Amino acid sequence: MGTYTDSELLYAARRHEALFSDNIPASERPQLHLPARIGWMNDPNGFSYFDGHYHLFYQYYPYDSKWGPMHWGHAVSDDLVHWEMLPAAMAPDQPYDGQGCFSGSALDLGDGRHLLMYTGVREVGKNLDGSVNLQQTQCLAVGDGLDYVKYDGNPVISSDMLPEGFNPEHFRDPKIWRGDDGVYHAVMGARTYEGDGSILQYRSADLLHWEFECVLATNGGRYGTMWECPDTFELDGKQVLLVSPQDMLAESNEFISGNGTLAILGHLDPETGTLVEEHHQSVDYGIDFYATQTLLTPDGRRVMVGWMQNWDTISMGNDLPWFGQITLPRELSIRNGRLCQWPVRELDAARSNRVAYEGIELDHEVLSLDGVKGRCVDLSVTVRCADEADPYREFALWFAGDEHFHSSIRFRPYDRVLKINRKHSGLRRAVVYHRKCVVHDYDGTLRLRIIIDRFSVEVFVGQGEQTMTMCIPTDGSADGISFFSDGHAVIDVEKFDLA
Ligand code: FRU
Repeated sequence: MGTYTDSELLYAARRHEALFSDNIPASERPQLHLPARIGWMNDPNGFSYFDGHYHLFYQYYPYDSKWGPMHWGHAVSDDLVHWEMLPAAMAPDQPYDGQGCFSGSALDLGDGRHLLMYTGVREVGKNLDGSVNLQQTQCLAVGDGLDYVKYDGNPVISSDMLPEGFNPEHFRDPKIWRGDDGVYHAVMGARTYEGDGSILQYRSADLLHWEFECVLATNGGRYGTMWECPDTFELDGKQVLLVSPQDMLAESNEFISGNGTLAILGHLDPETGTLVEEHHQSVDYGIDFYATQTLLTPDGRRVMVGWMQNWDTISMGNDLPWFGQITLPRELSIRNGRLCQWPVRELDAARSNRVAYEGIELDHEVLSLDGVKGRCVDLSVTVRCADEADPYREFALWFAGDEHFHSSIRFRPYDRVLKINRKHSGLRRAVVYHRKCVVHDYDGTLRLRIIIDRFSVEVFVGQGEQTMTMCIPTDGSADGISFFSDGHAVIDVEKFDLA
């Protein structure tokens, strides 16, 4: 499949990375979250296990901390927690992807070859209003885990393979898998001319010849417009579809406006292959989360990552030569009909310096605990009323704090509202700074697992029934953690440093 081609654009990107990314001090990078090697990062791509390593690619523009013609950045890990940055894997260097190598996925072909399937974006002319008319098609590249060659028969899924009514300008983000029957399948996001999103499924026996298989799911105007970055898999007896809808309207306490994430749980109709939908939920209730992708680990765990940013808040920027991070990989499960997430168990081996307190009483004074501070920590907190007959009104945890800055997590038991807030985190742009969710399954004890890294926080509620993810720009020297309760509460705290 193809031959090695010299790509000036790829070599230029690799030279640029090698020259400038090593100068970035470790203290200006996240400790455990994968950031852009240099420049800009958006969606995680090609999350896969190949040749004994986990591979994670990403949407990448190495030359600026802003979105630009998309390359694929690349990193590998042995434990899903510590990442080694590799040279860029693809550049937009072909006629069919000259406007960008957009999101896609990867597959171990089992014969020493690693397959990338991605969206090639090309300009096909100008629209009547003078804007560029783009066409999105699905393309392949194969490689050895370091160098990748694009297939010379690209694209393998072209616009004329779209069902009627779909707009070739919005047909992207293939997620490929091999079925039990040995047949390859891939799902893509697509948009009708009217602007409604659908997830289209294609099939192929040999990876090179594809045919339309079915419409896996149709938005029908329920959740935003276009659905980007689909992923679908079976988990705990359910069929799961993850998508990232654009232009969402807020709905109750479940969905926010803008770019969101949606998990649909259901089962496949055996006749049509279409998803019969049973349950809908947000994947994450925080601020900075979008474009999820999963892999299956060799020991059978379904693990998800997401872009730890959101198109609606990228103007928060940072003063660093990189922008954009990937969440910690999260193990997925289904409990009580909900999609649950938990940091991968490999994170436990990165923990040290345990400090624990039990039965600490909080009653209107701000409390700090010896040994409980830091900017790379795994913190577990449980909160309960000291007296059920006289419940506390609000609990607050401040982190990344010093005399100028702090971010907070707050909980009110009477309406089960949990809030994250970064108003005083050092933000210099007027971006969304707080979010709330209503805690499901609240039984009188609030349980939080909070992963704080230099530029982010990920909050896992209960046993992972809900998560809230948020980036913070606060200087790493602000490492204070403190607790407060309006009313009488009792807390347990366990803290580990992460390295
Ligand atoms: C989602 C997305 C994808 C697209 C990529 C382009 O964030 O818009 O649909 O492939 O980003 O960078």
